[in-house]
Amino acid sequence: SIYSNGMFSSSRQVTTTDPRQLEEQARKALSLQSYSYIAGGAGEKATMDSNRLAFRQWKLIPKMLKTTEVDTSVELFGEKYPHPILMAPIGVQALAHRDKETGLAAACAEVDVPYILSTASGSSFEDVAASCGEGKKWYQLYWPNDNDITVSLLKRAKENGYKALVVTLDTWTLAWRPADLDTGYLPFLAGIGTEFGLTDPVFRAKFEADTGSKVEDEPLGAARVWLQSIFGANHNWEDVAFLRKNWDGPLILKGIQHVDDARTALKYGCDGIVVSNHGGRQLDGAIGSLEVLPEIVDAVGKDMTVLFDSGIRTGSDIVKAIALGAKAVFVGRPVMYGYGINGKEGAKEVLQGLLADFYLSMAIAGIPSIADCRREVLRRVQYGG
Ligand code: FNR
Repeated sequence: SIYSNGMFSSSRQVTTTDPRQLEEQARKALSLQSYSYIAGGAGEKATMDSNRLAFRQWKLIPKMLKTTEVDTSVELFGEKYPHPILMAPIGVQALAHRDKETGLAAACAEVDVPYILSTASGSSFEDVAASCGEGKKWYQLYWPNDNDITVSLLKRAKENGYKALVVTLDTWTLAWRPADLDTGYLPFLAGIGTEFGLTDPVFRAKFEADTGSKVEDEPLGAARVWLQSIFGANHNWEDVAFLRKNWDGPLILKGIQHVDDARTALKYGCDGIVVSNHGGRQLDGAIGSLEVLPEIVDAVGKDMTVLFDSGIRTGSDIVKAIALGAKAVFVGRPVMYGYGINGKEGAKEVLQGLLADFYLSMAIAGIPSIADCRREVLRRVQYGG
């Protein structure tokens, strides 16, 4: 409908359909701090650039008279999904819109895009589950040092119907992010993010016992302690066995870029990995995420589910990631821009646009199904562009 409205009717959507203009539209709609945090990256954003350049080095070779219809459905961890696109876990969605995580979760449910709730959320497990309704939802863990808190979070995720657990390994501390340092993001965050994890009963009990004060009376202090408990963690590979023991659904490690780590994840009984560099927000100078996807798929793709994110902006980007062996992709910033521009409707417009662009790209490339989307649809080129 976005396509036919745009082409044939005078009714226009609010959010631009041009992926290159979306960020600029969001910049105008958001406060400096919110925009800087969402759009920002680590260091000089070299890895953000590499994420995009990596896509440019692969070109699709379309085939004619193959198909006008595409079956985009996929199976992930034994369940069927209508297309291979999920909303990336993103913290502090209150920065984009006052409806926080519940507004974006509702947008995702309405367009059948699974929602992955971040640990750094200002809405509770329960409220987000209610907003998702029948929509699929996963949970992303920032892995606290304190095992009791970890177990409490996993228990609440399970009780509230979050199907899969995504454990993010690349952000045990926040990286050097100049825009956030310059705009004073963390104090700002503490001001609006006071619900971070504070609804967790185990965290609350520990905070109150340690400090002798109530979370309600010390929201900023409690938020700081909470942040320190998740961004200050100190785990090793052996600890993955603890997660495996305490989560009986699909266990997925996010932030994998090295083929050795992919193999180690398999060894510890993980069901999947997300090949991701956090959208270039962590290690600046790191390799473009798509660049390492093929070697990781070759190493573990037969034995575990390889997912992908970092840098996806268009439908053909998704075709390329799938062709290189990802079973599904996460999309981050573009949806946050839509959410910032026009709340739930804006996020829906971005997601619907991406779904339509993906469908059209598959059809015009002559690829009738996800199973047919293999490496032979691509060629690697030197000229980029
Ligand atoms: C993120 N990301 C992220 N990842 C995660 O596991 N937990 C989190 O809380 C967050 N928070 C977060 C906030 C913001 C504002 C952004 C932009 C990203 C990383 C995210 O899940 C994903 O890896 C990247 O966003 C993918 O890159 P693109 O699609 O933004 O290029």
